[in-house]
Amino acid sequence: MKSKYQLLQEQLLKEPKTWLITGVAGFIGSNLLETLLKLNQKVTGLDNFATGYQHNLDEVQSLVTPEQWSNFTFIEGDVRDLEHCQRACQGVDYVLHQAALGSVPRSIADPITSNGANITGFLNMLVAARDAKVKSFTYAASSSTYGDHPALPKVEENIGKPLSPYAVTKYVNELYADVFAKTYGFNCIGLRYFNVFGKRQDPNGAYAAVIPKWTAAMLQGKQVFINGDGETSRDFCYIANTVQMNLLAATTTSLEAKNQVYNVAVGDRTALNSLYLAIKSELQKLQVTITHEGPEYHEFRVGDVRHSQADISKAKKLLGYRPSHKISDGIRESMPWYKRFFA
Ligand SMILES: NC(=O)c1ccc[n+]([C@@H]2O[C@H](COP(=O)([O-])OP(=O)(O)OC[C@H]3O[C@@H](n4cnc5c(N)ncnc54)[C@H](O)[C@@H]3O)[C@@H](O)[C@H]2O)c1
Repeated sequence: MKSKYQLLQEQLLKEPKTWLITGVAGFIGSNLLETLLKLNQKVTGLDNFATGYQHNLDEVQSLVTPEQWSNFTFIEGDVRDLEHCQRACQGVDYVLHQAALGSVPRSIADPITSNGANITGFLNMLVAARDAKVKSFTYAASSSTYGDHPALPKVEENIGKPLSPYAVTKYVNELYADVFAKTYGFNCIGLRYFNVFGKRQDPNGAYAAVIPKWTAAMLQGKQVFINGDGETSRDFCYIANTVQMNLLAATTTSLEAKNQVYNVAVGDRTALNSLYLAIKSELQKLQVTITHEGPEYHEFRVGDVRHSQADISKAKKLLGYRPSHKISDGIRESMPWYKRFFA
C-alpha cells in the first residue's frame, strides 16, 4: 500500500502548487527546494544569506531540469523587513518558514540578533502570510522548546523552561502561531525539529552542527572534539524525514491535524560516542583514512540538554508521517556528499 507521502507526491505532480520557502539558501530550505522543484512545483525563495549560500542554490540548479529551475523565483531579502515578506508571499499557496538564526551558542553570544531574525522576522512572516491569504503556514520550531523538562521520550504537550535565548525565540514562535490560529483563524503548523542532518548542512564556522563538523574534520585529518563525556544523546533526524513532514503538514486537510505542533524525528536516541563511531566507520567504507587516535573530550556546553528523544506518534497518527530513514541510513546516504565537497 502506498504511504500518505507517496500519494501526496503523485497528487502534487498532477496539480502543481505555489510555495514560499524562507531560508531557501540554507541547509533545510535548499533541500525543500530540491524536492519541490523535482515535483514540478512553483517556488519562491527568500533569504538574506546570513548563514545560507548561493552555492546551495547553484547545487539545486544542477540537480533539476532547466524547466524545473525556471519554476523558481529567488528574492534576496530579510524577514526582519515586512515589505520583503509581503513581496515574497504574493500568490503563494503554502509557506514553509525556515529562515532563522540557528544554534544555541550563537544566541547566547548575541541574543539581540537571534531575537530579530527569529521573533521579529517570524511575526513579519505571519502577518504577511495571513494578509496574502495563504492556505497554510508551516514553520521550523525546535526540540529546544522541551528545555529542562526531564521526561523521555518528548511528548508535544509536556514542555519545560527554555535553556537558551534560541529556545525562547522558538517557543515564542509557537505562542504567536497559536494566537494567530485562534485570533485570525490562520492555519499554522509548527515542526519541532530534532537535530536534522544531511547534505548541504554547513560544516564550517563556530556554530556548525555536530555531524557536518565531525565529518569534515575526519575528512581533513583534523581532531574531533566532544563536549562532555560523549554520552549526551540526540534523536538525529535525516533531512528526507524533515522534508516529508513539511510537505505533509503544509497540505493537510484534516481539521484535527491543523494548528498543532509536531515532533520531527525518528524516535531513536544516539549517544555522541556512538555517532562518532558510525561516521568513522561509514567514511572508512568510502576509503577515507582516519588519522587521529579518537575524539578529544571537552567541558559540557552551557545551554545544552543532556538527552533528547522524540515521541513521534502524534505526527504518525495525524499526518501519516512514516520516517523513511533511520540515522544509519542517513549517514550512509550523506557521507559521499561530504567526501565529494570536503575531503
Ligand atoms: N538543523 C537543525 O537541526 C534544526 C533543528 C531545530 C530547528 N531548526 C530550524 O530550522 C530552520 C532551518 O535551519 P537550517 O539548519 O537549515 O539552518 P541554516 O542556517 O542552514 O538555514 C537558515 C537560513 O535562513 C536564512 N536567514 C537567517 N536569517 C534570515 C533573515 N533575517 N532573513 C532571511 N533569511 C534569513 C539564512 O541565510 C539561511 O539560509 C531554522 O529556523 C532553524 O532554527 C533547525
